[in-house]
Amino acid sequence: VTDAQATAVPKVPTLPDSQTVTEVKHWTDRLFSFRCTRPASLRFRSGEFVMIGLMGDPHPETGKQKPLLRAYSIASPSWDEELEFYSIKVPDGPLTSKLQHIKVGDEIILRPKPVGTLVHDALIPGKRLWFFATGTGFAPFASLLREPQTYEDYDEVIITHTCRTAGELTYGRELIEALEHDELLNEVIGEGFWKKIKYYPTTTREESPKMGRITDLIRSGEAYKDLDVAPLCPDNDRAMICGNLAFNLELKDMLEEAGLVEGANSKPMQYVVEKAFLD
Ligand code: A2P
Repeated sequence: VTDAQATAVPKVPTLPDSQTVTEVKHWTDRLFSFRCTRPASLRFRSGEFVMIGLMGDPHPETGKQKPLLRAYSIASPSWDEELEFYSIKVPDGPLTSKLQHIKVGDEIILRPKPVGTLVHDALIPGKRLWFFATGTGFAPFASLLREPQTYEDYDEVIITHTCRTAGELTYGRELIEALEHDELLNEVIGEGFWKKIKYYPTTTREESPKMGRITDLIRSGEAYKDLDVAPLCPDNDRAMICGNLAFNLELKDMLEEAGLVEGANSKPMQYVVEKAFLD
């Protein structure tokens, strides 16, 4: 026994429900994604969210630390052996101001209780599935787009993503481009890959090939024309919405106007909504 071993520092207690970070990617100064180990017992449906976080700062008097947790959509599909998350960085956000500095090997807290409404079970059968996202609202669709069931259940999948800048589209764009090389999906989709999956990225505050809010582009009919698809109709279309609050409300109104009815796990219908995480 060496001196160093004899006087070993007491082992730092591991966090409750801790998982180890395996990869971190920074996409812009406002956005990053990371992957972590998946608890062996964690089962979830693609599109669901879990509570994740870090230990908060010690209380100034008692020194006690409390976990700082927020709801995060799981961005990886249900079959993946790791978990992926896509996050905003808010400079003074209680959690993300710290979370944005995580590195491979660090521990995060993950409460293994997945829930959420952006799941296939909350929709009745249809022909065409729309995913409407803004910003980090893309995360649950990153899961569902990599889920074979999405293409088994629908003839056509349309993903719209509205962000402020072109750089904020990169995570989604790269993920969608990689779908074509996914063996599992190729087996399900077969011929006509990009006929079955349609991607419609738009920006609002920086020049890009398609500018404007998706809500305006749909209202004007421009999005239908660009995508070469028929307008929303309650018989064929199912939709999932995930973005900032104003966007969710506006799009919800538009879908209701088109005749679609909101569903839930307990009562599947034609569309579902969830708010994207904001620290
Ligand atoms: P805009 O730049 O016109 O506000 P944020 O990063 O603030 O969450 O916004 C993400 C994207 O969502 C931005 O491009 C923003 O456009 C857009 N957005 C905000 N509110 C709405 C809305 N009510 N309908 C459609 N898009 C919206």
